[in-house]
Amino acid sequence: MKLFIDSGNLKEIENLMPMGIIDGITTNPSLLAKEGGDYRALLKRICGIVQGPTSAEVVATDVEGMLREGRELAALDDHIVVKVPFTRAGVQACKTLASEGTRVNVTLIFTAAQALLAAKVGATYVSPFVGRLDDIATSGMNLISEIVEIFENYQFDTELLVASTRSPIHIVEAARMGADICTCPATLIEALFKHPLTDIGLERFLKDWEKAQAVKA
Ligand code: G3P
Repeated sequence: MKLFIDSGNLKEIENLMPMGIIDGITTNPSLLAKEGGDYRALLKRICGIVQGPTSAEVVATDVEGMLREGRELAALDDHIVVKVPFTRAGVQACKTLASEGTRVNVTLIFTAAQALLAAKVGATYVSPFVGRLDDIATSGMNLISEIVEIFENYQFDTELLVASTRSPIHIVEAARMGADICTCPATLIEALFKHPLTDIGLERFLKDWEKAQAVKA
């Protein structure tokens, strides 16, 4: 399963890239607004660092506006994936952009039916938001399992990109279900490294080694 960082923050991205575990980036208007500055220059720098799929979202809500913004974003860098919201206009824009060879990530997916429609119009990725479903007492991971089943039934090329992940269990369950990608905040990726028994075990190994060296000396 691929791991993307859900962030527009260069420090977070530069900090995690050398680990060799990151396959791409997702951004959204909220994340880029937090960073300030010229978002196009920021996206180009991110693409240069990551050298992998980097989602950048349109903010227009009509088809023509989405197409205009989507084409502008796609022209920034070959790694840009145009993100459109799942609306009637978003689905129509996805169809056109995909037919032009632009990769499209259809976001704000909350039902399997929405994922099916996005796949039918050639989305490269669909982004169901598991955390936001959990927030309203609905299982986000049940949705992932439904979409995995549907995409397997019809051999869609669309990749299932699990978004709005909030805890390591989301990542583990997504991998067990066969999701293609999880996008995670940097803090969540850091959390995947941690286990108290690993820390305690390493401390004990090092202490035992030091003791043995002291006896020999
Ligand atoms: O990729 C979508 C993500 O940014 C939304 O996450 O935590 O705001 O629901 P969250």
